Amino acid sequence: MLKVLLASRNAGKLQEFAELLPGFDLHPWPREAPEIPEEGCFFQDNALQKAGFARAWWRAHGTGPLDAVLADDSGLCVDALWGGPGVLSARFGKGLGQLEKNLRLLDMLPPEASRTARFVCVLALLPLPEGRALITSGQVEGRLAGENRGAGGFGFDPIFIPEGHTQTFGELAPGMKHALSHRGRACERLRAILQVEFDADRRSGRLRDNLP
Ligand code: IMP
Repeated sequence: MLKVLLASRNAGKLQEFAELLPGFDLHPWPREAPEIPEEGCFFQDNALQKAGFARAWWRAHGTGPLDAVLADDSGLCVDALWGGPGVLSARFGKGLGQLEKNLRLLDMLPPEASRTARFVCVLALLPLPEGRALITSGQVEGRLAGENRGAGGFGFDPIFIPEGHTQTFGELAPGMKHALSHRGRACERLRAILQVEFDADRRSGRLRDNLP
């Protein structure tokens, strides 16, 4: 199995990655490790910054062998809010509980405004101890509900209805969210690329036994 350090303290993401990447032996970001910076203007900048920071920290302080670090930068982009909160999603409504954050976001929509929105996710997988990043992304189109609906998922899930459905991500079963979601799609692409590399290694006789 590929031993991977997840550069995130977000419990919702950790839970989803455990389900989406069953071939990975995932290690959560250690409690004693510092906060991971995210200062970029784009999801990809932030995913690379997080992965680079996590790799450097692990090289200096980590214990035990790991194959790679994985970083996720994601967010909700609402058309009527000029794409916001977007890369700033994690900081939106700081200090409020998640359900209040969701209501605040809904309150910001002008009356009659379009309710279209999308979730975006960029993943960066950086090999350890060195090597170039593998980047994949995924997104899911949808629209905002009128209120919080459903107790599943995390973050903005109770107010996001994926295209072609009537239930929010908070109401849909986790397996259904994974099949449709930005993170599910980015993970599917990551797995596909790793599989191609694995097959190439096998064809060239360099069989590695730790890939998913
Ligand atoms: P970041 O990637 O750590 O900057 O933060 C992502 C933020 O976007 C989360 O804290 C959530 O508010 C939101 N978000 C990202 N993905 C999801 C999702 O799958 N469901 C609900 N909210 C999400």
